[in-house]
Amino acid sequence: MNRLAALFDLSGKRALVTGGNSGIGEAMAQALGAAGAQVLLVARRAAELEAAASRLQRDGVAASWLAADLTQVDAIRALAQDAEARLGGVDIVIHAAGVNLRQPFAEVTPEAWATQLALHLTAPFFLTQALAPGMKQRRWGRVITIASLQSQRAFANSAPYGAGKGGVVQLTRAIAQAWSPHGITCNAIGPGFFPTALTAAVFDDPALAQRHAAQTCIGRNGALDDLHGATVFLASDASAYITGQTLMVDGGYTAK
Ligand SMILES: NC(=O)c1ccc[n+]([C@@H]2O[C@H](COP(=O)([O-])OP(=O)(O)OC[C@H]3O[C@@H](n4cnc5c(N)ncnc54)[C@H](OP(=O)(O)O)[C@@H]3O)[C@@H](O)[C@H]2O)c1
Repeated sequence: MNRLAALFDLSGKRALVTGGNSGIGEAMAQALGAAGAQVLLVARRAAELEAAASRLQRDGVAASWLAADLTQVDAIRALAQDAEARLGGVDIVIHAAGVNLRQPFAEVTPEAWATQLALHLTAPFFLTQALAPGMKQRRWGRVITIASLQSQRAFANSAPYGAGKGGVVQLTRAIAQAWSPHGITCNAIGPGFFPTALTAAVFDDPALAQRHAAQTCIGRNGALDDLHGATVFLASDASAYITGQTLMVDGGYTAK
């Protein structure tokens, strides 16, 4: 393998992908698998986990899954130990689990606020806290968080989601500050609009989807495989000197 190919090669790496049974998490798991990594998918719904793992296996990826509710912070350390035991260590973690409950500001309940902040901030924090020491021992690790257009600007009916996504950018810097001296980088990917269950409200409305497409420089919304290149880049040695950054994969939405 030439040096450039080796920079992007993930053979022998073990990855945990939260939200890996759907949408963006599954697309990122596909990318890691295509680059040679073994992947462990984590989310709540067992049937969807099983189905996503089967799709990856059909593509030749060593894929398995664990069901967990990541809003239950007390269970996160046990989840990390389980994952490490199954894989023999976790080298790459992608924090892609998320929800946008879309409520008008005046109607947001404490429960809805707590769920969204738990998934977007608390779970990535404590899962990283649990997995980083193992990465430190091996002096290599990659942590990838998922930011959003809402890390930079507010959209209607999304205050808790946006607050969480703003926090993701800063959490990414804080993880980088704490762990990068030990060979562990942490970066965020900030997707524009991609068609998933989470954005059904947008894509079910063709006029709205088109308005968002027109906001980008490129002139279209995202396709899930647009995330593959950035995922492998940030998960591999190719990005060894990049940490604490947010890479917007948004067709230039935030550039306009
Ligand atoms: N789609 C976009 O345009 C877009 C843009 C910017 C950022 N994002 C972000 O990308 C990430 C993935 O979203 P998506 O668009 O791919 O949506 P999605 O298809 O709805 O996926 C959400 C994932 O999160 C998991 N999840 C939800 N609640 C969970 C919980 N309590 N515990 C564990 N897992 C849970 C879901 O699995 P279970 O239901 O089985 O638990 C699912 O795998 C999210 O952080 C989202 O904010 C998406």
